[in-house]
Amino acid sequence: MTTTILDKQETEVNEEPNSAPIPIPITRPAFDDDDIRAVSEVLKSGWVVQGPQVKEFEHLVSEFTDCEHAIATTSCTSALHLSLTAAGIGLGDEVLLPSFTFIASANAVEYTGAKPVFIDIDLDTYNINPEKIEEYLENKSPDDPTKPKAIMPVALFGLCADMAAINRLARKYNLRVIEDAACSLGAYRLGRHAGTEGLTGNFSFHPRKALSTGEGGMVITDNADMADRIRKLRDHGASKTDLERHLSEGGSLLPEYDVLGYNYRMTDIQGALGVNQMKKAAAILKGRRTAAQRYYRLLETVPEIVPPAVPDKYHHAYQSFVCLYRPGDNTPDEIYRVNRERNRLMAHLESRGISVRQGTHAVHTLGYYKNKYELEDFDYLNSYIADRLSITLPLYYDISKEEQKRVVETIHGYLNR
Ligand SMILES: Cc1ncc(COP(=O)(O)O)c(C=O)c1O
Repeated sequence: MTTTILDKQETEVNEEPNSAPIPIPITRPAFDDDDIRAVSEVLKSGWVVQGPQVKEFEHLVSEFTDCEHAIATTSCTSALHLSLTAAGIGLGDEVLLPSFTFIASANAVEYTGAKPVFIDIDLDTYNINPEKIEEYLENKSPDDPTKPKAIMPVALFGLCADMAAINRLARKYNLRVIEDAACSLGAYRLGRHAGTEGLTGNFSFHPRKALSTGEGGMVITDNADMADRIRKLRDHGASKTDLERHLSEGGSLLPEYDVLGYNYRMTDIQGALGVNQMKKAAAILKGRRTAAQRYYRLLETVPEIVPPAVPDKYHHAYQSFVCLYRPGDNTPDEIYRVNRERNRLMAHLESRGISVRQGTHAVHTLGYYKNKYELEDFDYLNSYIADRLSITLPLYYDISKEEQKRVVETIHGYLNR
């Protein structure tokens, strides 16, 4: 007998209230026997590189997001690199992005030779603040040799950025919009899926995400020209994929290579995992959402922990459940003090077998960016606060009520000791 995630959703998760506390991970991928079978079938087939499974995975993501084209890649980082390159971003250009995001967003900009320009976030959504984007663009000197060419909003932790305001600015200042939706499969804004409101949307299938292919990424776009360029760039610049060549006459002749490309191809082993994960996407996302709603209720008794806000008409995918610990007083001394308290709380939870993390990092405080662009911690205050005061609680599609209660009771107990 094999067990699948869909079976598990039908029955209550087996819990033994009197057993010794087991570790609660920060997350865990939703793999089941079907995934194992899908992977072994690819291995048995002998075709393991980008092929029919990747094609099917792309088709399923394109349907799920209601976007015309989907192009699988090795990671979201490579997806972002391809999107920026295909959009013509390079040396002498600036790309505006939030200062609170995973470092990969900024790294992808650096790979193109363009300059990442950090913009502060809204502390309630953790996403880029459009007013700060406008402030930057308004004050930009025309004599500056680097020119703003694109905005890279990040739909952080499963919540879309304010794409209406961002697209308005993009039109006004003639900027491309490349959306980093790494965390946001299953997130919507006004009924539109994350990643569909810019020129491209870019997703990650790393195990910290709701759906995983081990490593993996996907670009989505409604722009046929971009899709075509990205497909070529992903595969060394080849005019035809191996699968197309294999299935067509004259397959013994190698394709044309007119552009400098990369090897960012996803394997069919990952593709098969992706296909299977997509079949369970609704169940996995529902499990996470149910668990997130439970946290909101449980945390009503812990005023020190502020759960994530969700603006009206936004549908949060809860890739991470990121809270703020005692936000309020924004003076440096107070932030340093509360940061030390948060770190002690996180260490306490770890000592009780409960994995927690800071949300993500303020990229401008990380050595490479801090040194290269001579940035100071307090240049982007909200990002600095989010870095120093955020705390991510464990969340996975089948986290049990008991596990969540244990997380919140352990926090409560520690804060009221
Ligand atoms: C916001 C954001 N952008 C980009 C990435 C990079 O994704 P990947 O690990 O698939 O390259 C991540 C991964 O955590 C992320 O959170």
